[in-house]
Amino acid sequence: MHHFENRDGIMHAEGLPLTDIAAAVGTPFYCYSEATIRRHVQVFRRAFGDAHMLTAYSVKANSNLSVLTVLAQEGAGADVVSEGELRRARAVGIPGGKIVFSGVGKTRTEMAYALDENIHQFNVESEPELHQLNEVAVARGVVAPIAFRVNPDVSAGGHEKISTGKAEDKFGIPWDRAHALFAQAHGLPGIAVKAVDVHIGSQIAALDPFEKAFMKVADLVKSLRAEGIPIERVDLGGGLGIPYSDGDTIPPHPDAYAAMIRRIADPLDVQLIFEPGRMIVGNAGILVSRVIFNKPGTDRRFLIVDAAMNDLLRPALYDAYHDLRPVVSHDGESPIAYDVVGPICETGDRFARERMLPPLAADDLVAFMSAGAYGAVQSSEYNSRPLVPEVMVNGDQFSVIRARPDYQALLDRDQIAPWLS
Ligand code: LLP
Repeated sequence: MHHFENRDGIMHAEGLPLTDIAAAVGTPFYCYSEATIRRHVQVFRRAFGDAHMLTAYSVKANSNLSVLTVLAQEGAGADVVSEGELRRARAVGIPGGKIVFSGVGKTRTEMAYALDENIHQFNVESEPELHQLNEVAVARGVVAPIAFRVNPDVSAGGHEKISTGKAEDKFGIPWDRAHALFAQAHGLPGIAVKAVDVHIGSQIAALDPFEKAFMKVADLVKSLRAEGIPIERVDLGGGLGIPYSDGDTIPPHPDAYAAMIRRIADPLDVQLIFEPGRMIVGNAGILVSRVIFNKPGTDRRFLIVDAAMNDLLRPALYDAYHDLRPVVSHDGESPIAYDVVGPICETGDRFARERMLPPLAADDLVAFMSAGAYGAVQSSEYNSRPLVPEVMVNGDQFSVIRARPDYQALLDRDQIAPWLS
């Protein structure tokens, strides 16, 4: 559910017509609905009832400080994968005690910073990482709370580039090494073993792979405890999918996901940690763009819009589908097939092939739906296109939460080597 709806023929973000925001901010721009973000995190939390849990929002999905502030106000923690993300989470007041640090390649500096911030846990992904973390902790006279991320060898995820739980993927420790590594970690002076962590992929639209992985994790918790290793938490990662189009398999509702998990996890009496990203912010954001040209090709019609693959990379990188809607309705007009493309000099700069849309002309506004997750965060300034602004809407007010840099700012980021001038 989201708050981007058509009212009197114009798509609104909550109470505001997108045409007004476009006039004020210019296009393209990302637009987020605060009410939608709040609703999603509340629905997720409520699904688990009275469970002892931490919702550690996966900052990589959308790391804008306003978005993080909304989530902090809702009591969420954060799943971070870099010092930069950790600093963002801390900057909006998310306490270290609600932050987990994931990722296969944490550096010594990042470990030290996270230890100083007293984070809830490090999700350790390899033996070398374990020893390095131990050294850094010992040198600072502290103990690092850890989970090992285990690789359950379960295949899941919306695309091969976002599946992470198979044996061939770089993530986690191999299943058959888990016992030995947990035992090793338990004996290290700078390490406190707290949890088992698993994350099998993203945009998962069925319960089955989660259930398979979580049952393996539950068995592992029991056998580790039997060996004297006190596991008190289980981190089940993120990955729950969202509907991107009407024809999609509808991903499980958080209620069904939670019921399945509680069935498996309640007997363990652990703190449950989750790292949802996409399901919190995905449908809470759109990318609004303007048609530049409607260009006839030899065998097709191109709709050239002012957003491009540098602004929303998902279609080019994962062949991802984003629903595309005209901001001003064209009731009663017969749809036409368009290839929707951006202005970048790459054939891959294509958002959609043969997409049926009402007849559109230069200056018409279109909205790429479900662009709140992995949209703005994956953008770049390729082709020297300034980063697109982000806007947040609350009822009938909006605010620019990341401004579009002007061209001078873009140029000023470079420096001409002194011997050249
Ligand atoms: N936890 C870990 C360790 C992760 O690697 C991820 C996502 C998440 C949590 C959050 O997963 P979510 O709930 O959002 O599915 N850029 C891709 C998605 C990459 C996901 C990477 N990891 C996309 O645009 O589809």
